[in-house]
Amino acid sequence: MSNMSQKELEILSSPTFQEIINTHLDNPGRRTILKGSMGVAALGFLGLAGCGGDGVAAGASGTAQLSAVGFSSTPLSLADSVQVAPGYQFQVLYKLGDPIANGIADYANDGSDAANNPSEFQFRSGDHHDGMYFFGLGANNTWDPNVSDRGLLVINHEAITPLFLHANGPTSTGGVRNANEALKEMYIHGVSVVEVRRGSNGQYSVVKGSPFNRRVHTFTDMEISGPLRGVPAMVTKYSPNGTRTRGTINNCASGYTPWGTYLACEENWAGYFGNTNNTGRSSNDQASMRRYGVRTSGAGREGWSTGSDVGQVGEPFGRWNVAIAGATAADDYRNAHFTYGYNVEIDPFRPNSTPKKRTAMGRFAHEGAWVGPVEAGKPVVFYMGCDSRYEYIYKFVSTANWDPADMMGGLQAGDKYLDFGKLYVARFDADFTGDWLDLATVANGTVVNTVRGSGSLSTAAITYTVTDANEQFLNTRLIADIAGGTPMDRPEWGAVNPRNGEVYMTLTNNTSRTTADPANPRVYFDRDDDGDGIGDSGSRGNVNGHVIRWREDGRNPAAVGFAWDIYLFGAETDDLTNPNVNISGLTADNVLSSPDGLWFSQKTGVLYIQTDDGAFTDTSNCMLLAAVPGEVGDGSTLTVDNTKANGGVVTTRAGNVGTLRRLLVGPVESEITGLTESPDGKALFVNIQHPGEDTGNLTAAPTSAWPYSLPGGGFGNPPAGVVPVVGNRPRSATIVITRVDGGLVGQ
Ligand code: FEO
Ligand code: CA
Ligand code: CA
Ligand code: CA
Repeated sequence: MSNMSQKELEILSSPTFQEIINTHLDNPGRRTILKGSMGVAALGFLGLAGCGGDGVAAGASGTAQLSAVGFSSTPLSLADSVQVAPGYQFQVLYKLGDPIANGIADYANDGSDAANNPSEFQFRSGDHHDGMYFFGLGANNTWDPNVSDRGLLVINHEAITPLFLHANGPTSTGGVRNANEALKEMYIHGVSVVEVRRGSNGQYSVVKGSPFNRRVHTFTDMEISGPLRGVPAMVTKYSPNGTRTRGTINNCASGYTPWGTYLACEENWAGYFGNTNNTGRSSNDQASMRRYGVRTSGAGREGWSTGSDVGQVGEPFGRWNVAIAGATAADDYRNAHFTYGYNVEIDPFRPNSTPKKRTAMGRFAHEGAWVGPVEAGKPVVFYMGCDSRYEYIYKFVSTANWDPADMMGGLQAGDKYLDFGKLYVARFDADFTGDWLDLATVANGTVVNTVRGSGSLSTAAITYTVTDANEQFLNTRLIADIAGGTPMDRPEWGAVNPRNGEVYMTLTNNTSRTTADPANPRVYFDRDDDGDGIGDSGSRGNVNGHVIRWREDGRNPAAVGFAWDIYLFGAETDDLTNPNVNISGLTADNVLSSPDGLWFSQKTGVLYIQTDDGAFTDTSNCMLLAAVPGEVGDGSTLTVDNTKANGGVVTTRAGNVGTLRRLLVGPVESEITGLTESPDGKALFVNIQHPGEDTGNLTAAPTSAWPYSLPGGGFGNPPAGVVPVVGNRPRSATIVITRVDGGLVGQ
């Protein structure tokens, strides 16, 4: 902190979310001023964060900011169970198939559920739980960020493990997917909104039948909002005027807005589209399809595009086939892929509202959207990553300045803040500064020959011409290429430090990387191959991932420049003594690979890091760790020697990791993802995604039976000495982690 300005010091010591909320709850005068149509507590936070001179002081009532995590690490584990640190416990809250409406039976979990009635999954939990957010539900049924005992938990269902969803796994006849199976899968994707309550025993439960409970899925009607609404690329048979589309898919991480809505972010949407005729595409569209990985031939993911629409209503299968089939775009689904790849805004407090795809935030493999520090009278800023190898980090800055009166303004407030703004891509420079490059500055008429991309088009150059200002929203990746963003090692989750506004983003791994740069500085061989680094055939590149962070110039979220360093480098146990890999000095207590999920506790300032790994899983299942970070620049500059893997020598800057410890290790073949907390900091909601996903077939017991680990099939971990039950089909689920003594998580 030695070189900080007075303003920076003031901001650094400014009160946290929770402190401001508590102060205002304790301040009747302020309450009177602010009371209106919205929640008092949230207004206090959202309207006044960063303000001085109004009686809000650092260290006000309710301060709980920690200087380091206080628990001891749980060891690495390959067990088919959830292991938590000493003094912690967990409950299983919301599992694949759990009913959310009255009259829906408990999940049989043998493939028979909804087998002949696919739409029944509108009333059940989806699969592959991922990004989520807890909205405290106040007495007047509006968002109250100070309420922990009752809330709306909004959860993405990113994908499916088809094997466990049907009696005999997924089936097809003559290359055509079984109709009811495919329809069921389409309902199992999407988003859940469920009301949860905490009982006197400290345990949460889902309120079955709550009027707030809702499933959003691939049949949910959606509005196209923002600059791409009504443009030719949005025209489909479903919406000839290009203003609507049907459904959302592969919703990975997520975000929340200061006005009380949820952003479900569409990540690997491109793969679901098949294509049986690509003749007649424009050059621009072909460049786009390759850059985004949309097929030009063949069937899409899960085979949905192969289904027959005969006897079906509304082309439930044909909509996944982007073939040019009719006379115009209004006669087929050639443009269906252009209606995916966005952040989808959902108002959980208004169950009948129509979600909106926010096109001004760009179209790419959206991992998530994380709001920056919010201040009245200033733009609202969201940080976003595009999760593929060599893709970019983005920032959206609203045109409108934040007005606390918009709290609980729903999708109308979203129209104001998310439909107009600037879209930037990040460039990370060798001097540890960076620039946000405004995509609007790429000139119309620019012509490039594109070669990048992962689609099935040939690798020959395709001419791409910037035709108008909307290209930055429709073909964001291509415009970011031209603008000169820095290709990163798969940007996954972001998180904003409530103490100082610094932004963290995981770069989970990149086994395609061959040359290093300062922001993606490691190229090495996974030692599991042979360890000599010569002639290896296995994983090379940035095998174990890192976490980058940046501080905006002047700590202004809307700034166009920033300073950066790398907070944390992943490593495996067998590389702990390799200084070019284990740069962060990890030990047995905190070794990790492929950081993915990130979450800053607003209550305690603890940073949580989740992993989604394939490299280190020979040694341990995926995990959740925690630390209290310092700030950009608190570490040291160093040289990384990647010459053993022909990656060159590069200078970078590593942060001081602080006390990093392992809080949880998950069951077999699961990814630990999704993180939100109760506002009082006493409960951490975490998702266990796809346990047993590598089970090849159903002829033997699945590789995981989680969460059926208790004798009799109960949910939880068996006591010491009790053998877990095997053989049940595993289920993705949300769990809740608490301290046995009921204290603050992380303390
Ligand atoms: Fe769905 Fe980027 O993980
Ligand atoms: Ca290893
Ligand atoms: Ca992820
Ligand atoms: Ca390995």
